[in-house]
Amino acid sequence: MAELGLSLAINGRERQLHSKLTAFRAPVPAAGNGKGHTDRSALPSVAIVGLGYVGLPTAAALHGECERIIGIDISEQRLAEIAALEADLGEPDRLRLKEALAEGTLELTTDPAAAIAADAVIICVPTPVDAKQMPDLAALRGACATVVSQARIGQLIVLTSTTYVGTTNELLTRPLARRGLVAGTNVHVAFSPERIDPGNPDHLQRETPRVIGGATAVCTTMAAEVIGRLTDAVYLVSSPDAAEATKLYENTFRAVSLALANEFADACGALGLDPIEVTLAAGTKPYGFLGVFPGPGVGGHCIPCDPHYLLWQLARDGRRSPLIEQAMRSITLRPERVMQRAAEVLAADGRALAGSRVIVIGVSYKAGVRDLRESPALAIIAGLTQAGADVSYCDPLIPALRLPGGRLMETVAAPRGAEWDLAIVHTHQPGADYSWAGDCPRVLDATYQFDAAPHRAVV
Ligand SMILES: NC(=O)c1ccc[n+]([C@@H]2O[C@H](COP(=O)([O-])OP(=O)(O)OC[C@H]3O[C@@H](n4cnc5c(N)ncnc54)[C@H](O)[C@@H]3O)[C@@H](O)[C@H]2O)c1
Repeated sequence: MAELGLSLAINGRERQLHSKLTAFRAPVPAAGNGKGHTDRSALPSVAIVGLGYVGLPTAAALHGECERIIGIDISEQRLAEIAALEADLGEPDRLRLKEALAEGTLELTTDPAAAIAADAVIICVPTPVDAKQMPDLAALRGACATVVSQARIGQLIVLTSTTYVGTTNELLTRPLARRGLVAGTNVHVAFSPERIDPGNPDHLQRETPRVIGGATAVCTTMAAEVIGRLTDAVYLVSSPDAAEATKLYENTFRAVSLALANEFADACGALGLDPIEVTLAAGTKPYGFLGVFPGPGVGGHCIPCDPHYLLWQLARDGRRSPLIEQAMRSITLRPERVMQRAAEVLAADGRALAGSRVIVIGVSYKAGVRDLRESPALAIIAGLTQAGADVSYCDPLIPALRLPGGRLMETVAAPRGAEWDLAIVHTHQPGADYSWAGDCPRVLDATYQFDAAPHRAVV
């Protein structure tokens, strides 16, 4: 689901935010040539712990900004993929990565002790939820414990993984102090949430401001010097807790917006209206409205997971947040709505799901990425299969996938529309040719924006 191209709307505070951002821009000038800042010296060395969708573009962006980049990941397979330039990465980052590897500025290792050599350590390991939607803190705790055990005097440690409020102090500042490394004195600690938008060329890291909250003011300044190499603007907050809460608020806001967009789309359906037309029209209001488009559900490593970190933390203290709980429930149930509509579209022609041939168009959780994590397509495929449908999928970015139950599926490389009883549009991959879908007898468009099949129904 894509956000509308609307301006930042923080009501009366817009100007204040802008001036604070600008104020910090002066000592952190913009990149001169896309490769790095031209008027200041390169950072000596930075270690990145966790080279996934966030860590790898971060490492690539440091090329030209940093004399030595130490990329640490526990997965040999991931490192091999990176070394072979086969990781899922936007073109500008891929070129930067290629250069960094060729010039030897980026070293890849599974050895956590390699972080000792770095002046700054950036931690970006996964923070998923488990099957019960409880935070799975294993990677985060493991990575922080290792970094703490290796930390040395003078080092800067910046946590960037999305997490509950208090993590930086609990897993970094206090354990470091127990080793005699006191934040703001002989070591520096900060939290700076990631805002990378994988697969979206409209939101470049350099143009996306970063929020930074250090354990002390000195820590904040030290972290801004490093994070300021990745972006043209940083926004400083008073503490790691405030920075952690900022990220949770951003993604909870988006989760609630998406749940609302889906519910509003259902209301439009009942009223015989096109939700995209109405959303675009509402988006012309220059303040107080930030629209998102409805879709088949919400996927990825962030929106379906992060608000649960907040809910979990509140529940631990005996508190609840009913609106967020409801939004997350609604997000989880959205694929069921798609299946229900699939059954209705078939039933309108006297057919049942059982025995029907169904193809799902696009299975990654959003356009332009190979990321299947939490993709609603997985729940839709599994649910339709359970209902007796014969389900296939086509996605040029996902050659094969494994369903939660273990079943392996391969993409249909050259689908022919007439072969299917129903096509369900889940994700439009950029540049893919969907003209064949015009020949499908029935098309259910869960994106509301698929124009290759004029006869389509929407969710
Ligand atoms: N993917 C996004 O779009 C996005 C955007 C903003 C923020 N975030 C947040 O950034 C964090 C990282 O997300 P991601 O999508 O990059 O995850 P990812 O799963 O793509 O990558 C994480 C990498 O960390 C490695 N790893 C795990 N434990 C490790 C350890 N102890 N030491 C070293 N490496 C380890 C894994 O092997 C993996 O390669 C998460 O908190 C996520 O919520 C993600």
